[in-house]
This record gives sequence, structure tokens and C-alpha cells, in this order.
Amino acid sequence: MADDQQPPVPADVLSEKLEQANRQLLQSEKMAAIGQLAAGVAHEINNPVGYVYSNLQSLQSYLTDLFRLTDAVDTAQSVEDLRQIRKSIDYDYLRADLEDLLRESREGIERVKVIIAAMKDFSHIEEEEFRPADIHRGMDTTLNVVNNELKYKAEVVRDYGDLPEVECILSQINQVVMNLLVNAAHAMEAAGTITLRTRQEGDCVIIQVADTGKGIEQAHLNRIFEPFFTTKPVGKGTGLGLSLSFNIVEKHHGQISVESTPGQGTTFTIRLPIVQPLSGDGS
Ligand SMILES: Nc1ncnc2c1ncn2[C@@H]1O[C@H](COP(=O)(O)OP(=O)(O)OP(=O)(O)O)[C@@H](O)[C@H]1O
Ligand SMILES: [Mg+2]
Repeated sequence: MADDQQPPVPADVLSEKLEQANRQLLQSEKMAAIGQLAAGVAHEINNPVGYVYSNLQSLQSYLTDLFRLTDAVDTAQSVEDLRQIRKSIDYDYLRADLEDLLRESREGIERVKVIIAAMKDFSHIEEEEFRPADIHRGMDTTLNVVNNELKYKAEVVRDYGDLPEVECILSQINQVVMNLLVNAAHAMEAAGTITLRTRQEGDCVIIQVADTGKGIEQAHLNRIFEPFFTTKPVGKGTGLGLSLSFNIVEKHHGQISVESTPGQGTTFTIRLPIVQPLSGDGS
């Protein structure tokens, strides 16, 4: 072999390779998000299903008692006998508890229904079309999905302004909001507050996710949007959440920025055009 030097890789091949790597990155982040979502949903559904199941068991034992009473209508010698049975099954307690038990079970099933509706909204994740969408509805759906990660750590305050429909791929905006919410929850060392704020500013909408968590060190601030940058222990964070969010916002011709004070909290601000520049009326 006279010359073992590799010829330079042509620019278009390189760019195709980069593009491919970027696609793989997005795909792996999407898989991680779906995994996290599935784990969250399983946990969230497990709780109501658990108490509805145990309520059904109580219901069965209450019914056995109640049948004893109604069957005795035929066999009892006197009304006094019936009163005795009624007393022995602690009828008053049973009656009150039955009502609680049914109400609680109904609430549990309602909760499961809400989660399933949220999952349905999320499953449009492959939809790649820009269309006018209700950002607040997307945010509420997202809150339902990540509620399990948030509820023990933070109170969530919704400070929603008046927003028009925004031309976007809503499932992707949901994913950005989800990443920001999960990051905010992870940043909480003690119980705190996460505020979701929205407003219209000219031909843009502003979405803010503010937390009262531990904040971001100055030295990290300009690195957090880098792929694989994470301060979480190995196996905990992939460091892809914010880089994916950055890509999504960029694809929407918007901007994402961050302000943080260590020890006090962090605010992420997303600015999105209400109408996409190419598909709008151009005015
Ligand atoms: N709200 C926040 N408060 C404090 N630090 C934050 C906040 N959001 C992001 N960070 C910092 O930015 C880093 C990168 O965030 P990013 O979401 O990209 O990755 P990750 O959360 O570490 O991992 P992944 O989201 O892939 O599970 C985090 O590790 C954390 O150090
Ligand atoms: Mg993250």
C-alpha cells in the first residue's frame, strides 16, 4: 500500500452523518421520555387501582352482612330479632362507610380516566404537522402526566394569561414543558413551588416554568443546553432533556432562555411565534 492516508470526507457526507446522529439522539431521548412516562403512569394508576381493589373487598364483606339482615326478614321470629342482627353487624357504621367507600372508588376511577385521556393526547407524539393548538390544554395534559413526579415535591401554580391558538406541533411543545417540569422537580431539595406562567407579547406567546429549587451554578449556565450535559449521577440523567427542548423550540422558530440564582431558583422562558413564518399569511 503506497498511501494509507484516508481521503477527506466530503462535506455532504459529513453533514448527512451529523444529521443521522442528531436523528438518533432525538429518537433515544424520545424513547427515554416514553420510558419515564410509562413508569410514571404505572405508578400513578397503581395507587387508585389499589384502593378500588381493597374497597371492593370491604364491599363484599359488607354485602355478606347486609344479606344476613335481609335473609333474616323471612326467618326472624320477631322484629326484636332483626334489631339484634342489625346491631351485631354495626349497621350505622357500615352504612356511612359504604358511602365513603363508593365515593372514594369513584374518585379513583375518575383519576384513572384522566390519566388515560392524558396518555391519548401524548400518543400523538409522531404527529409532525404544525397546526393551531391550545397551549394551555397541552400544559394541563402534561401536568397530569408528570403529576406523580411533582406532587410530593412542589406545589404547582398556574398563572395563565389569555393566549390565542398557537401554530405548533403540540405534542413536541408538551414534551418541552414536561422536560422543564421534571427538571424543576429534580431541582427541589425541600418542598417548593413551580409556577407555570403564560402571556401574549405582540405576535409571540411566552411560556415560563419557574421553580424555587437549588438553582444552576453560573459555570453551568451556558452548558445546560449541550447534549449529554448533566449534573445528575450516572444512570439518573442522560443530559438530553434540554438539548432536545432547545431543538424543538428552534424548529418552531422560537427561543428558549434561562435565568437562575443559586439557592433561590430557576426560570426557563420560551418564546414562540403565534404563526410560523413560512406558513403564515406573511403580514
Ligand atoms: N430547573 C433546574 N434547576 C436546576 N438545575 C437544572 C434545572 N434544569 C436543568 N438543570 C441542570 O441542567 C442539567 C441538564 O438538564 P437536562 O434536562 O438536559 O438533563 P438531565 O435532567 O440531567 O437529564 P435528562 O433530562 O436527560 O434525564 C441538569 O443535569 C441540571 O444540572
Ligand atoms: Mg432533564
